[in-house]
Amino acid sequence: MKNILSMSQLSNEEIFDLINLAMDFKSGKVQSNCDNKFAMNLFFEDSTRTNTSFQVAEAKLGIKQIDFDARHSSVNKGESLYDTIKTVESMGVNLAVIRHKKDKFYEELLGKNLKIHLINAGDGTGQHPSQSLLDLMTIYERFGYFEGLKVGIIGDLKHSRVAHSDAQALTNLGAEVNFGGLNDWYSDEFKAIGPHMEVDELCQEMDIVMLLRVQHERLADDENQNFSKESYFKQFGIDMRRVEMMKADTMIMHPAPINRGVEIADDVVECGKSYIFKQMENGVYMRMAMIESLLGGKQFDNDPDQEREF
Ligand code: CP
Repeated sequence: MKNILSMSQLSNEEIFDLINLAMDFKSGKVQSNCDNKFAMNLFFEDSTRTNTSFQVAEAKLGIKQIDFDARHSSVNKGESLYDTIKTVESMGVNLAVIRHKKDKFYEELLGKNLKIHLINAGDGTGQHPSQSLLDLMTIYERFGYFEGLKVGIIGDLKHSRVAHSDAQALTNLGAEVNFGGLNDWYSDEFKAIGPHMEVDELCQEMDIVMLLRVQHERLADDENQNFSKESYFKQFGIDMRRVEMMKADTMIMHPAPINRGVEIADDVVECGKSYIFKQMENGVYMRMAMIESLLGGKQFDNDPDQEREF
């Protein structure tokens, strides 16, 4: 595998290989082969978790990080993404981790003369494979399987690259995925995957309740003007009353950043059912596994003869 750009590129077997490698890094069973490699994290859109987590993962793998500040780069003089990546490749950078506000930004980099490895750290409303893989690792670590798990994804589905990535991957792995939140956000893509349910019903029935932030930065002006935090929280937010409806072993997940008092109450964030900070902890090990699988020689390639798109 050369790049990790979308969950749609990964087979279930490859997902399990990445989870197992991440677990091995977490338990200290494996060492990295990545020293003497160079990585650059190019974040053209804001990030706290993904950016920091990739930095920690690269440091743990012994990779040298080369600074890149999107606000002061020559992209602001009109340099294309391809020319930027080709430039850093020519200087010896082995891996580019890229977050970009444009959906499928990576398409302009494919099929060109690039040897550098690429990881998509989130493209617009498209895909967020490293978040999805750390979510899958956290679920697998807790339950030990995916088949038949009931997952409820509640919130701003339409603008969420996490929802797009997780809903498809969990379905492929045999989980039953259901949805909640504003009907306007329940688009055809999600209708094809699973039903839309009331939040109380999801809380009572699901093994995993996954919350999503309302992405105000991607809403139209009139949608933001008409949005009421109080009425959203009442209708779709998870408070302790709803936590008490859940089964004893239900997991609450959220990719974060969280909006306390909008989709989740303050006292739910660190309650006993919440895995939100466990997701962040696991994110470092999953990103180590992703990088190692590209750069370190711990390659898994289930079908070396298969032509791959990425
Ligand atoms: N979950 C996530 O992608 O968070 P950041 O936007 O802070 O990276």
